[in-house]
Amino acid sequence: MEQEIAKIREEALKDLSAANTMEALQEVRLKYLGKKGALTRVLRGMGGLSPEERPRLGQLANEVRVLLENGIERMLEDLSRQEQMRQLATESVDVTLPGRPAPRGHQHPLTTVLREIERIFASMGFEVAEGPEVEWDYYNFEALNIPKGHPARDMQDSFYITDEMLLRTHTSPMQVRTMEKTVPRLPVRVIVPGKVYRRDDDATHSPMFHQVEGLLVDQRCTLGDLKGVLLAFARQMFGPDREIRMRPSFFPFTEPSAEVDISCINCGGEGCRVCSGTGWLEILGSGMVHPRVLANVGYDPETAVGFAFGMGVERVAMLKYGINDLRLFFDNDVRFLHQF
Ligand code: DAH
Repeated sequence: MEQEIAKIREEALKDLSAANTMEALQEVRLKYLGKKGALTRVLRGMGGLSPEERPRLGQLANEVRVLLENGIERMLEDLSRQEQMRQLATESVDVTLPGRPAPRGHQHPLTTVLREIERIFASMGFEVAEGPEVEWDYYNFEALNIPKGHPARDMQDSFYITDEMLLRTHTSPMQVRTMEKTVPRLPVRVIVPGKVYRRDDDATHSPMFHQVEGLLVDQRCTLGDLKGVLLAFARQMFGPDREIRMRPSFFPFTEPSAEVDISCINCGGEGCRVCSGTGWLEILGSGMVHPRVLANVGYDPETAVGFAFGMGVERVAMLKYGINDLRLFFDNDVRFLHQF
């Protein structure tokens, strides 16, 4: 057996030095160290040896195994290094090529519309304020003349944190918060953009959406002033040909109250599919601030008078861009967002 091991050693080393490809090396490995390899066979035969011979011959065979394994390993490394050198020599990198540009994002269409609304009202002297999205029942309803149990609460169900605290259903509570801070000074001129929450979810309603509230309080101010401000807004936002109309409506915190429509941006008022044949598109709610709301915050309704309005930003954006599903704003599909 000793001779056999010596013979295997000699042949294996010869085969190894002749192997100059990955494949050839694998063949050498198989031939000697594989399941049916020559050395493997010898190692298996150790069991039949006498206890005196076994340790010596076992060591001998193992030495050959280690020698072969290391040899194959080293040659594999050599080969891959040679391959690398070859690649470096033949495939060159042009280090002067410009880098790949990182894709750049842009404003969300709602942000664009919001900034535009803010710009228009700022140009008419309105300040911009923001308020809390988690609101007291008092500010969201009570102080706005919507007591507990009032039917107007039905249309504005929301997520309650406690009996007295909820996710605000509109930006109108900021009318109250703003006036609490300004009283008794006049005038008050503020718009309030922000997120609001309601139990609504379909193609034109989302459980979270955006509103812009407007409030102006002064010693003297009329429904005509309200109409003038909103007309100026409508024309800057939707084009110089827009007309507006006011329809009588009801909100607990304004008296009188009006729903405001703009002449259809598609047909200009003749009636089409966009305006359901009416020629008009509703864009906001508004009215003269209710005397009780003024009194709630400490203004004297005899000497202070004001108007307020509230609009949905998604609605404005949908009209402006001709979008028919509000949920697109929040899916964040770049194929949609890139169009703006
Ligand atoms: N807060 C009302 C809503 O969300 C909208 C509104 C109507 C706001 C009339 C006003 C207003 O300021 O005067 O439905």
